[in-house]
Amino acid sequence: MTEKIPCRINGKEILVWPGYRLWDAALDADAKLWQWCGGHGQCTTCAVIPVSGGENLSAPTGLEKFSIRLWFAKPLAAIRRRWKGRPIRLACQAYVQGPVDVVGLFGKTAKAARAASGLDT
Ligand code: FES
Repeated sequence: MTEKIPCRINGKEILVWPGYRLWDAALDADAKLWQWCGGHGQCTTCAVIPVSGGENLSAPTGLEKFSIRLWFAKPLAAIRRRWKGRPIRLACQAYVQGPVDVVGLFGKTAKAARAASGLDT
């Protein structure tokens, strides 16, 4: 029997079915994850860093890899470079396959969650 999976986004906890999109879980949990393009993998504002369980997310899609590569080349890339080398994922392109804890990169809620997780730099 399939059971729901614990998912934590910006410190907000929610149980989701396996295969549920991380982005939808963030909306359901009111995790205040940014989402300018409406979950289409283009704006990268839903970018997250796994605190734990990153291996429990689906493999990055081609669109996700492309958008993140582009992200580091866009204006203000100097600001984004502090995240380079981190296992950044786009919540709208990642599907939950096991317990996961992630924090966002943008917004006050994400900043507080990163600090609480010891990930703020
Ligand atoms: S919401 Fe725009 S890339 Fe995910």
